[in-house]
Amino acid sequence: MSALKLLVLLSGDLVGSVTRTESSAKTEFQYDPDYLTGGATVPLSTRLPLARTRFGERAIKPYLEGLVPEDPQVRRRWADRWGTGQTDAISLLAAMGWDCPGAVQFTEPDRLAEMRERAHERIPCSEAEIGGRLRALHSEPSSWELPDGHWSLAGQQSKFAIIRADEQWFEAKGAAATTHIVKPGIGRLHHQALVEHATMRAASMVGVKTAGSQYREFGGEPAAVVERFDRVAAGPTVLRLHQEDLCQAAGRLPEDKYEVPHGPSLKDMMRVVANTSDDPARDARRLFDFLAINYVAGAPDGHSKNISLLLLPGRVEIAPLYDLASAFSFQYRKGLRDVALSIGGGRKIGEVMPRHWVEAGKTLGLSDEYVFNRVRQLASEFPDAFASVLDDISSDASDEIKRNTMTRLSRSNADLSAQMRKALSSDDRPKNTRGAPRTDRPLKTSRGTTTPASNGG
Ligand SMILES: Nc1ncnc2c1ncn2[C@@H]1O[C@H](COP(=O)(O)OP(=O)(O)OP(=O)(O)O)[C@@H](O)[C@H]1O
Ligand SMILES: [Mg+2]
Repeated sequence: MSALKLLVLLSGDLVGSVTRTESSAKTEFQYDPDYLTGGATVPLSTRLPLARTRFGERAIKPYLEGLVPEDPQVRRRWADRWGTGQTDAISLLAAMGWDCPGAVQFTEPDRLAEMRERAHERIPCSEAEIGGRLRALHSEPSSWELPDGHWSLAGQQSKFAIIRADEQWFEAKGAAATTHIVKPGIGRLHHQALVEHATMRAASMVGVKTAGSQYREFGGEPAAVVERFDRVAAGPTVLRLHQEDLCQAAGRLPEDKYEVPHGPSLKDMMRVVANTSDDPARDARRLFDFLAINYVAGAPDGHSKNISLLLLPGRVEIAPLYDLASAFSFQYRKGLRDVALSIGGGRKIGEVMPRHWVEAGKTLGLSDEYVFNRVRQLASEFPDAFASVLDDISSDASDEIKRNTMTRLSRSNADLSAQMRKALSSDDRPKNTRGAPRTDRPLKTSRGTTTPASNGG
């Protein structure tokens, strides 16, 4: 492998450099001393604290690999198209790192000025043109980069990002930041884009902090359109906010994004929160919502790349949830589905018992009463919310999804909410857990001991 150096920028500021030496082929990262002395408050990753240290491959690799697509075919296409030869993250980012998730950018040093001088260009695009791009994704699902290339989003599914402004759609060119992600859905699953939208919107309606979602048909092509939580409008310009997912934050490679067999568990995720969040109690509750809404919705894909941190100046928080999609709509065969993240040792939808929820609550520092109440509320409200999103759309597709989903979704959640009500009224529950935040077994972290999360949403 040849030697390579890439400058790393956050929100346009130079923060450090990533290097790969020819002899060892190992990647390293170092913050720029001027960034450290200039009052830096945002680290590149929560695994890379602001310090004058040379971070080795083990520290930087999960972050870098987590930025580029997981699909080896997409990586190969990128490498071929941009002549990078290698498909490892640093090679791909050398060619494609000018616009990444969050606020980070990578560039070869001799192209820094070119990257910085790019105009912010927005090219209006019609619904028919967006439909054309969606059709192209269906026929060539592993090709989802912008024509001008400088764009990268992780994940397995086809998607692209665009700008919504002044009630119009625009393609982003040059340095312009996109505001929405357009997902055509998983082709082999009927109406999956609409199922994803209904799940996201219903989650938001029942009080889970979720990225804004719309369902649209562009020139007859259906898509879920998700608002980017890592962008914020500031007058006519769009600012980038920094983010990393919990797979990166837990120091795991994307191939280990699922807890089984080697990925981050709820405990690992809580450790990240305890070590990094400016309000661990709030983020423990957000982690619990992530766990519970995936179970309630019958969404099997709640892995560690489907939950992220926002790294804001001086503070870190769990970002709004995204990529939530019920599988009740597609469960034609017999058998129970598993959720991705173990709930206190339980995983199968229909078989997670109050004692499992209690165990998960303990991991997060939440009282039994809090977890029972929250699960009961989500389970009793989610099915109606899901149905009402579909009623508002009122099409053949939404009718079909209702027919395929509602019986299973409602039955599963009626059982769950009955179980929670029973657990709440049960007299044999230990008295000291009623109402009060749990104070036993606090989690030990590198910051010391966490404050247990308080009750209430
Ligand atoms: N609303 C959002 N705002 C900002 N970034 C987002 C948003 N939604 C997704 N992302 C980023 O884009 C990545 C891919 O998106 P998403 O998870 O929706 O795609 P996917 O291909 O369906 O994923 P998977 O591989 O889990 O099936 C996410 O891991 C996250 O980093
Ligand atoms: Mg995802």
